[in-house]
Amino acid sequence: MNKIYNYEPVNEGSTKVFVFKKKLSKKGPGSKDKLPFYNPAMELNRDLSVIVGQWFVDNSNDHVRFLDGLASSGIRGFRLANEIDGDFEVMINDWDDDAFALINKNMEYCKLDNVVVSNSNLNTVLSENKFNYIDIDPFGSPVYFIDSALRSIYNNGIISCTATDTATLCGVYPKVCLRRYGALPFHSFMMHETGLRILIGFICRAAGKYDMGIEPLVSYSTDHYFRVYLKIKKGVKKANDSIKMVSCINSDKLCLSSKNTNSNIGPLWMGKLHNKHALQEMRTILFKKKLGTKHMVWKLLDLLEEEADAPAFYYTTDELASMLKCSPVKMKNIFEKLRSKGYVVTRTHFYPTGFKTDTPRDIIEKIFGESIEKN
Ligand SMILES: C[S@@+](CC[C@H](N)C(=O)[O-])C[C@H]1O[C@@H](n2cnc3c(N)ncnc32)[C@H](O)[C@@H]1O
Repeated sequence: MNKIYNYEPVNEGSTKVFVFKKKLSKKGPGSKDKLPFYNPAMELNRDLSVIVGQWFVDNSNDHVRFLDGLASSGIRGFRLANEIDGDFEVMINDWDDDAFALINKNMEYCKLDNVVVSNSNLNTVLSENKFNYIDIDPFGSPVYFIDSALRSIYNNGIISCTATDTATLCGVYPKVCLRRYGALPFHSFMMHETGLRILIGFICRAAGKYDMGIEPLVSYSTDHYFRVYLKIKKGVKKANDSIKMVSCINSDKLCLSSKNTNSNIGPLWMGKLHNKHALQEMRTILFKKKLGTKHMVWKLLDLLEEEADAPAFYYTTDELASMLKCSPVKMKNIFEKLRSKGYVVTRTHFYPTGFKTDTPRDIIEKIFGESIEKN
């Protein structure tokens, strides 16, 4: 017997799709309701994938094959198909039968001729097809799909993935992180950057097996997820150049804690997290698109561009103040002082009172101390 579903419309960007109507359960959201659910909190994540997708098509000479591999309602894939201009097609896949019924409903509604739908295990789809752009957006960790994505991607293609297992990558569950990512996390004020670098380092090591290297285009962390867009480059030299950028560090090297923690962290990706030039081009694309979170995407890209060439890791005015047992100094004062002495200093998206700089630590402490009086 055919199932009866209740749908409701959702608008994101310039695309309208249908999602399953939420059941009101006395036990709270999600309990017993097993139907795939639409998460409005991920709109910025999807908005940005439209921008990166457009950037990728604009920079490709050939027809582009996108895969929305873990699609749920298919909203991300339908948005790519509807909101990007150029020569491309999108495959929208989900193994769940309810999700697939919803994808078909949206396929019928959206009437887009550049979309094909699929109802398989993502690893099977990746084993049987090749793509230029693979999106992996799981509940939890993307690690279970990375190997097959690397085997499926064309040279110079993009693998983008979300990781919502932030507690694991941030070091709340270090044993899980070691098993899942083969890496030791660091539960500290720096955990978002070390977590993101663990995720990228994991993908870089997996790519190395297949003689492939990676180039991060855009990478960021929020309280709820990590997200990376990596260009995959084939060849032994590319692989060697990338793997050189993966290493373990000692927690004391982060040199932001007065306590001697002396623990190993990583392996971590120690290279750049973003491509500055690509970010600039993406901001130009952003101007022209209709997006619900346009201002937030703009702010994020602005911060990522600012920190793109800065050194790994950061200081925070809170940590410095607590270490020096004083109240935090205004960011503006610190920035002015460091810049007047010729050092590089940038804000970072990882932390509101964080800053990245090439200034030696003893000089930062000295300047911080001097600034307290003037604060
Ligand atoms: C977080 S949801 C995707 C959300 C969607 N990308 C969006 O932007 O709304 C993850 C989806 O992956 C599907 N899924 C999980 N494991 C899968 C697998 N091995 N193959 C295919 N689909 C899978 C689930 O059915 C679920 O719908």
